[in-house]
Amino acid sequence: MVCMPKKSFGDNAAGRKPSAADFMPDDRSLPSLKHAAEHCQGCELYKDATQTVFGEGSVSPQILFVGEQPGDMEDKAGHPFVGPAGKLLDRALEAADLQRAECYFTNTVKHFKFEWRGKRRLHKTPRQIEINACLPWLRAEINTVKPDVIVLLGATAAKAVFGKDFKITQQRGQLLQSDLAPKVMATVHPSSILRAIDDESRERELEEFIADLKFAKTLTESCTESS
Ligand code: URA
Ligand code: SF4
Repeated sequence: MVCMPKKSFGDNAAGRKPSAADFMPDDRSLPSLKHAAEHCQGCELYKDATQTVFGEGSVSPQILFVGEQPGDMEDKAGHPFVGPAGKLLDRALEAADLQRAECYFTNTVKHFKFEWRGKRRLHKTPRQIEINACLPWLRAEINTVKPDVIVLLGATAAKAVFGKDFKITQQRGQLLQSDLAPKVMATVHPSSILRAIDDESRERELEEFIADLKFAKTLTESCTESS
């Protein structure tokens, strides 16, 4: 039997364009999902990238983090958040007293989208059609690990969940309503901090990011108390 997910965000409408839903396995365990995603051709992005970068981390995470897409280093390594943005995220997690090993890290889109600039591969923002095509993987990961708290990192992840009018600048660091998890929060993407115009702004933005992660940690504590 082909097991199709319940229609929800990211799923195909009848009649339809290809999407990750066409590659969804019956067995929704993480190893099975990861294996199936390795062969996904739900959009064009698999063609130029090195490999699928699936989510990783604790199978019952304190927090599930959602980024945008793998970067150059993640594409080569096959693991999420191992490049410069991942290093900054590690620093912020530590400052917020969160353990990387107790969280789960994934991306809205599982293949690296880029353009060549000389010998460098420069990140390109995924299009809506690619985001929609890939969302069944994120939905499946969330359904499997069932996090109490989800933190959306940056506009791509936040808009994928809350729609195109969502504004990180206005709604960061707040508890948001979603069917994805009991507690959902959005904040900036760590790569936006790396792009800050000077050291002073970078430090300030990092402090604000850490404050958001500390708030996310308090959300995990209230989950534990109520359960
Ligand atoms: N940026 C992301 O959004 N995800 C990664 O895995 C790395 C960088
Ligand atoms: Fe499949 Fe997502 Fe990769 Fe597109 S980006 S091919 S939907 S895994």
